[in-house]
Amino acid sequence: MSAGAISARERVIVALDVPDLKAAGDFLDRLEGQPAFYKVGLELFVAEGVRAIEAVRGRGGKVFLDLKLHDIPETVARAVSSAMALGAELLTLHTAGGLAMMKRAAQAAQGRAKLLGVTVLTSLAEGDLRADGIAGSMREAVVRRAQLASQAGIAGVVCSPQEVADVRHACPSLLLVVPGVRPAGADVGDQKRVATPASAIAAGADYLVVGRPIRDAANPAAAFAAVVAEVAAAGK
Ligand code: C5P
Repeated sequence: MSAGAISARERVIVALDVPDLKAAGDFLDRLEGQPAFYKVGLELFVAEGVRAIEAVRGRGGKVFLDLKLHDIPETVARAVSSAMALGAELLTLHTAGGLAMMKRAAQAAQGRAKLLGVTVLTSLAEGDLRADGIAGSMREAVVRRAQLASQAGIAGVVCSPQEVADVRHACPSLLLVVPGVRPAGADVGDQKRVATPASAIAAGADYLVVGRPIRDAANPAAAFAAVVAEVAAAGK
């Protein structure tokens, strides 16, 4: 993936982590049409379904549908087929679902949307891997899952800023989407593996996903513009 071809504005995906269409509309108003890409996740999609996607597309935005699909291969393949009709450009599934699941998902997508494999959630730390019986470092676990995703033929992965350089090195052609982004001094919340926008871009991220630092800002449009400026300055 050539990150240089994407504008800084397009590289910052704003998470629409709000409860309903009314709140989504208010948030979109406050963003003043500045972002190009919006993430519709579980909270909004469970409440509003395809109407949430239509609300974004109706204002000219692109949609990243973050459903983190994780089930048997047949079920995920059929869910991916259904999702392809919704008009999202990016759709997530969990790499923990395994190679066969990801391969079937890639076949079902037929290139109509880019599939992204979530490697290890950015809210987890190495202690959580141990508790799950996984030996080795977080980086090893994330790189292993990214390699599986690449082998399965899916377009990209979601990883934290702390593994992005290793994943970029191991799987140069994957699209890398990075949440857990916090401008200097911002509240970390439940995220464990975080970094600033500039360092995530410098490490090789193609896209950043930013939620609370923009949603909860007094002026979301200004908070978005500040992240874009940091991305532009970090170059790449
Ligand atoms: O508010 P914050 O910036 O932490 O939001 C990050 C967003 O990215 C949330 O919507 C979350 O669901 C999503 N995400 C994540 N970690 C992943 C995949 C997605 O935080 N591995």
